[in-house]
Amino acid sequence: MGEICNLRNPATLFSLSLLFLLFISSAAEANGKLRLGYYSKSCPRAETIVKEQVLKLYHKHGNTAVSWVRSLFHDCMVESCDASLLLESTEESMSEQTARRNFGLRNFKYVTTIKDLLEEECPNTVSCADIIALSARDGAALLGGPKFDMKTGRRDSKVSFLKVLNDFIPDHNSSISVVLSRFEKIGIDTEKTVAILGAHSVGRVHCVNLVGRLYPTIDPTINPEYGMYLRKRCPNDHPDPHAVLYSRNDRVTPMVLDNFYYKNLIQHKGLLGIDQGLLYDPRTLPYVKKMAADNTYFHQQFALGMVLLSENNPLTGSSGEIRKDCRFVNK
Ligand code: HEM
Ligand SMILES: *[C@@H]1O[C@H](CO)[C@@H](O)[C@H](O)[C@H]1NC(C)=O
Repeated sequence: MGEICNLRNPATLFSLSLLFLLFISSAAEANGKLRLGYYSKSCPRAETIVKEQVLKLYHKHGNTAVSWVRSLFHDCMVESCDASLLLESTEESMSEQTARRNFGLRNFKYVTTIKDLLEEECPNTVSCADIIALSARDGAALLGGPKFDMKTGRRDSKVSFLKVLNDFIPDHNSSISVVLSRFEKIGIDTEKTVAILGAHSVGRVHCVNLVGRLYPTIDPTINPEYGMYLRKRCPNDHPDPHAVLYSRNDRVTPMVLDNFYYKNLIQHKGLLGIDQGLLYDPRTLPYVKKMAADNTYFHQQFALGMVLLSENNPLTGSSGEIRKDCRFVNK
């Protein structure tokens, strides 16, 4: 008996630590963790409704799918996957959408379309944060990206994080060290960081985010012919940010989430500083080469990265709220 309760006995220590682990994990459970099919009882059609709407909107405007993919990054990277990005400015606080680093985010009005249908089906049940997560997943699949499962059960923030946004979202010209450390902080390693930046295989970049590499001289890491092409797209070194001057991220397959992003980098046709920089950093270069050569491998890593991003520090249990209108906190 004395033997068993002896704390120096390795077997006792082992079972005590097992008990402790069980205790911790059940405490986390009670707190409400993300899980697959969180709405299977409370709103069985929730995921289907999101999928149907993402598909319908994609047929109306293909760029909506591109937006959902980008929104996941801009919401989840900043503090938490909590739909803080969707809050509009009020007298008390400014929207994250006004941040310079969030420039070009679009199609928010269609989130309202999706949310309204979910509210009709099951009022006060499905969070805006889960709409962001699920629509990014479904949008990526429609763009020819990988199909993957995503947990649900996120809740919505009651505040905007505009003031600290720059501590989380890197700039278009940040160093690769900054980019890697920002992702590392939320558990995304170098390999998966290189993979999720492959999202820049779709969509557009406005001239405000390009001219730094074009004037007064063309950045020597840009293919010279491509540099001339980009100067034609952005003829002025001080573009009106509101002028719709932009370049496609990937001119070969601009609406397909494929590994042309990496092939372009190898040809020195990356658009942003952080894109082209991946070719010049010994930590990221091996993955650029491997992803350029193997689309299946890119898709596998992309899916893993998107899931990690979507699970960053979620509000669960009784934290936050389920917003009724994604644009405003509940009254
Ligand atoms: C270091 C991290 C990143 C930086 C600095 C960055 C920066 C940018 C910039 C400057 C644009 C162009 C905006 C414009 O001028 O309209 C852009 C577009 C885009 N980004 Fe990123 N991005 C990063 C990571 C990501 C990640 C992780 C994703 C998704 C998983 C993503 C998805 C997109 C998409 C889809 C677009 C095209 C948007 C559209 O056409 O509407 N980005 N990004
Ligand atoms: C990055 O670009 C912005 C403009 O978008 C500029 O204000 C800033 O000085 C640039 N930073 C570096 C390190 O070049």
